[in-house]
Amino acid sequence: MSSDKFLDNKSLKKLDRELESIISRIGIDRKTQDEVFDKSTLNTFEKLISDRVIDILDFPISTGKEGNVFRAVTPEKKLVAIKVYRVTTLTFKHISSYIIGDPRFKSLSKNRRDIIYTWTKKEYKNLQRANEIKINVPKPIKTINNVLVMEYLGSANMAAPLMKDVKLKDPKKIFNIIIESISKMYKKADLVHGDISAYNVLMHKNKPYIIDFGQGVLTEHPNSKEFLRRDIHNIVSYFKKLNIIADENKIFQKITNM
Ligand SMILES: Nc1ncnc2c1ncn2[C@@H]1O[C@H](COP(=O)(O)OP(=O)(O)O)[C@@H](O)[C@H]1O
Ligand SMILES: [Mg+2]
Repeated sequence: MSSDKFLDNKSLKKLDRELESIISRIGIDRKTQDEVFDKSTLNTFEKLISDRVIDILDFPISTGKEGNVFRAVTPEKKLVAIKVYRVTTLTFKHISSYIIGDPRFKSLSKNRRDIIYTWTKKEYKNLQRANEIKINVPKPIKTINNVLVMEYLGSANMAAPLMKDVKLKDPKKIFNIIIESISKMYKKADLVHGDISAYNVLMHKNKPYIIDFGQGVLTEHPNSKEFLRRDIHNIVSYFKKLNIIADENKIFQKITNM
């Protein structure tokens, strides 16, 4: 037996002990650990703790196809949100179609882990760009490997709800803010989100916050116009059900003609 393939009992036990000790320090349960945390993700959490970015994981806010979002507490007792992309079961086709064609990620290795790390960094950078032009998005705080730390949206009791689950008091106003955000992103940050829908907008302090920027692309991406059209379409159709009538072609023209 070659030792790099098959760990002997002794080193296996040592690894197990190491894992247990990291897990108990971080404070997550076994099920979550099995689903989300491979050894390297646990090491990344260790680094976040030793760098004093976070102190402890609070609880999971969301368990998605591609990853999990947790609430965490900083050493200063502030709340943050932590998105962890799952390295083991990430749907892959989806991701590569967005990264291929983005000049910022030309030298992308074929390695799966690298792609996921790059994807996470992409979400971080897209959040930075969106944040710089002052649209409502969670402020990015830190990214390491497949883990992204950002501003937590919500109250002490609960995370901000998805727009699809909220009865909007002033739908026209919310619609206008979202369209204005899409327009500003395009014109001022050369950015297209690519997956805007009522599932990726959180209602926080009566304002819409756009989240989930991993698939966002620059306007020079060959498919950026198609993604922009789809974002506008999703929002226009959603608000149509709330009696807000708008012409998606006109909106598209107005945004792209600058
Ligand atoms: N900054 C945040 N603050 C509070 N909740 C968040 C934050 N970011 C994400 N969430 C919650 O986590 C869920 C998943 O996040 P999202 O970025 O949309 O990932 P995905 O859709 O890929 O699973 C969201 O629907 C939302 O409920
Ligand atoms: Mg989402």
